[in-house]
Amino acid sequence: MALTILGLSGALTHDPSAALYIDGELVAAAEEERFVRDKHAKNRMPYEAAKFCLEFAGIKPGDVTAVAIPFAPISIMEPARWHYAKRYWYAPDRGLDAILTGNRRFHRYKRRIEWCLQQLGFDLKKTQIVPVEHHLAHASSAYHCSGFKEKTAILGIDGKGEYATTFFGYGENGRIHKIKEFYDPDSLGGLYGAITEYLGFEMLDGEYKVMGMAPYGDPGKYDFSRLAKFENGELVVDTEYANVIGFRRYKEDGKGYYFSPKFVDWLGPKRAGDIADEPYIHYAASMQKLFEDLALQMIDYYLGDILRETGRLAFAGGGALNVKLNQKIIARPDVRELFVQPASGDSGTALGAASYVSNARGVAVEKMEHVYLGPRYTNEDVIAACAKHPAQPTWERIDNGDTEVPARIAKILADGHPVAWFQGRMEFGPRALGGRSILGCPSAAGVADRINEQIKFRERWRPFCPSMLDTVGPQMLQTEHPAPFMTFTFEVADEWKSRVPEVVHEDGTSRAQVLKRDYNPRYYDLMKELEKLTGNGVVLNTSLNRRGEPMICSPTDALNMFYGSDLQYLVMEDVLVVKAGAEEAVG
Ligand SMILES: [Fe+2]
Repeated sequence: MALTILGLSGALTHDPSAALYIDGELVAAAEEERFVRDKHAKNRMPYEAAKFCLEFAGIKPGDVTAVAIPFAPISIMEPARWHYAKRYWYAPDRGLDAILTGNRRFHRYKRRIEWCLQQLGFDLKKTQIVPVEHHLAHASSAYHCSGFKEKTAILGIDGKGEYATTFFGYGENGRIHKIKEFYDPDSLGGLYGAITEYLGFEMLDGEYKVMGMAPYGDPGKYDFSRLAKFENGELVVDTEYANVIGFRRYKEDGKGYYFSPKFVDWLGPKRAGDIADEPYIHYAASMQKLFEDLALQMIDYYLGDILRETGRLAFAGGGALNVKLNQKIIARPDVRELFVQPASGDSGTALGAASYVSNARGVAVEKMEHVYLGPRYTNEDVIAACAKHPAQPTWERIDNGDTEVPARIAKILADGHPVAWFQGRMEFGPRALGGRSILGCPSAAGVADRINEQIKFRERWRPFCPSMLDTVGPQMLQTEHPAPFMTFTFEVADEWKSRVPEVVHEDGTSRAQVLKRDYNPRYYDLMKELEKLTGNGVVLNTSLNRRGEPMICSPTDALNMFYGSDLQYLVMEDVLVVKAGAEEAVG
């Protein structure tokens, strides 16, 4: 019988997701938010995502060997709960809770997962639910998906799981070994989140905006080193300022924040509105610098020996989405290759828990080569969605789609128009990588502004990113390092800064996807066609959604979004939808 492991995340009240391994093959994975159309799907369980995974694989609940969950009970014999109680001495009720009923959250979550499984038709008496510690799940998603054969250093940075916030370990011969963990409130990810809140964004959502704002500021203007220190192998966050609970929280309109009134006394009022101005841009720069400095020191301290030995590092947890840190990690002379699991946030822990259990039961999981793991739709599905859509779309089916769709769309792009691009299986993880994307020609002056006018309304300091051919990557990014998932930024070669200005960040870097044809031939061929027309095998790529909404999943979602925007062109599989009044593209 096949070893079938279903991973389900959602323990931390955000980003529920499901991932399915059958005999080590990652058959399907998706976030719940995409189906229920609610970003981060807070306080939900991964019902729709799990249903999709089972249906896609054509299996029934009874075929599942085990359900893996990325959250586990933490023993009182371990230091985690004691550390928490000691460090939160100023909130004795919480500290006491951690000692006396420290696994309450786990039990509550398990009950909800059981309820979700029952709704899906699982017989709980016959279903094994296997808890995997949260950071072990992150670590597994990094190490087991990396495909690295050598001894591999493993790093996990997030806000917090059960109690752990940071994980150092290594993987060898398919097994993960823990070296060290830090515990709440000593959380570098949590500190970044607290500053994210202070800068007016939502924690667990706006961190990448802080990172995007940082290059506009001067990190030398404000010294943030008082907020956290790494000394003698321990991270200590100053909880007079951040990662605070209870009465130490700053409050505004009845909402409590993870920074303190003392923090506001030091740096001034919390940022409001959509502006990126002084002094806040400098704060973003200082936070980013502190994050990078401390993370690099910690890597050196705990993982330096392994890196000097093999040069392999696997990294996951929300902190692994910090592409600027990743750029600095890759630049270390002792790092030969960095693998960042593309769904590094908590949605990826479904994958992590499932891969961990598969490995523990003797079936090694395959290397994660791509993220096209969600639902796909046929031309007939697309046409049916058009037929019943109230906007009565005008559409055309393009013959010989494999060659003609790339050729037609490249022409529309080269003429300076953005195009909504819906092809194949939906991406797993936060980045659109050519399955559900809005595309633009990166040499067409003003195309980023046009995308912002027509749909995205992004903050002006946030750059757009490029996808590129594997033949272009090494020239434009000046490195052979793999970059399949847009999890790294690289310094752009001078010549390319002027060739594709619309996808180069303020600081001269790009967060790039370098695509091999095998993993998405139609997207690759589109860039080939664009290269013929413009000389650049590069396309501007941003996710297919409106601001504040999750990425598009189905053709109906795409049509709703399209008609709720000023975009003119939408291509779904072989079907091209063009709005009345759009300049007709030349066929
Ligand atoms: Fe996490």
